[in-house]
Amino acid sequence: MDIRAPRGVRDILPDESWKWAYVLDVTAKTMADFGYAEVHLPVFEQTELFSRGVGDTTDIVEKEMYTFLDRGGRSVTLRPEATAGMVRAALEHGLCVHGASAKLWCQGPMFRYERPQKGRYRQFCQLDAECLGLPGPVADVEIIALSAEIFRRLGLKNLEVVLNSVGCPNCRPGYRQALVDYFTSKKEGLCETCIGRLDRNPLRVLDCKLPDCGAIADAAPAVYEHLCGECTSHFEEVKAGLTRLGFVYKLDKRLVRGLDYYTRTAYEILSGDLGAQNAVCGGGRYDNLSESIGGPHLPGVGFAGGIDRIVMVMEQQGASFGERPQPAVCVVAQSEAARGASQVLTHRLRREGFAVEQDAGDSSRWARSFRAQMKSAGGSGAAWVCIIGDEELASGSVAVKNMNTGDQVVVPDAEVTRTIQTATSEV
Ligand code: HAM
Repeated sequence: MDIRAPRGVRDILPDESWKWAYVLDVTAKTMADFGYAEVHLPVFEQTELFSRGVGDTTDIVEKEMYTFLDRGGRSVTLRPEATAGMVRAALEHGLCVHGASAKLWCQGPMFRYERPQKGRYRQFCQLDAECLGLPGPVADVEIIALSAEIFRRLGLKNLEVVLNSVGCPNCRPGYRQALVDYFTSKKEGLCETCIGRLDRNPLRVLDCKLPDCGAIADAAPAVYEHLCGECTSHFEEVKAGLTRLGFVYKLDKRLVRGLDYYTRTAYEILSGDLGAQNAVCGGGRYDNLSESIGGPHLPGVGFAGGIDRIVMVMEQQGASFGERPQPAVCVVAQSEAARGASQVLTHRLRREGFAVEQDAGDSSRWARSFRAQMKSAGGSGAAWVCIIGDEELASGSVAVKNMNTGDQVVVPDAEVTRTIQTATSEV
């Protein structure tokens, strides 16, 4: 077959998908423990949501969106991130009217036309939490603590919290000007892209990964001297709150994040085991996003973690994904005549709540020998094998084999469940 998955996307096959299920289970439990309710958002939105919400001078909007006209001629975009969609949904459904706040989370695929490399895909999965309607620093601290707690429960090690403030519309123009002045004086050392960014979005120059630009950006004016009084005290309270909870963090004046909606807090959690794409999550405050998409003032703070990267780090660090799901029971038909009875037993045990595997071949094709069936039952991890042969068929019984001890008993068909449950509860 010459049709393959498009570049930059991948299939999550059974050897990996159960690990994803574990990460999502832990995430869902942690979100619930922090009071976050799950929502399911559409995978595509009106393009304007992102151009206005994420910002049309960002790389995401300028270069990375999967945008197309639908058959009705409307411009729609596969979501590159979830925050704008979450705010849109909260506004559309009045979740935050009359000063109400909402703590919401979601997970699912996001799409960005980026250059694929390790840990960077064109379709990737995020878990995302958004706290809407709360302007104070306590919410920022809670969001950072929530992301860190998910990673702690997943057993991730060697992580670093990196923190910054990007100010607000009151203080950013002053800081922006300081950056323009500084970078203009160093223009000859900057890459073409950064020179282009200078006028349109000078904060982005701080983010450049090229060594020459990086060296210049390292010596650029820090935002801290330019923050207004309110942003400064917000930042101080976030830092104090994190310290109170025992978090160690590093300040990084170059952390501006790739989305334009941020105000005040910006943060990332980095892994020492990921290489260049080392952020397992990123987030921050976005008090003006709602207004930029035509809504009322609605402060917000949130984060998103990349599931692909989280699983990758866990694998690398040998973290536990819990138990891989496996059948508790395998049902084996020893003869063709016993196949019907084995099907009925399988069905019954499944309805009783057991995870059951059976050889689903039939006599015309695929039917496998007793030996082959026993071999795969042995390899399946099932603790029990129920065997029905001609003798059992004639007497309405089943041979129940305990795969851990090798013991085998023949019991009446109606006694199979009790036999397994009794032996299991004795262990
Ligand atoms: P982001 O930093 O663009 O933020 O993405 C968050 C996380 O998604 C990254 O730290 C990374 O783990 C993962 N990620 C991003 N791009 C890729 C990719 N191409 N391949 C694999 N993983 C990727 C946001 O998306 C914001 N919406 C976060 C946020 C929520 N801010 C406030 N609320």
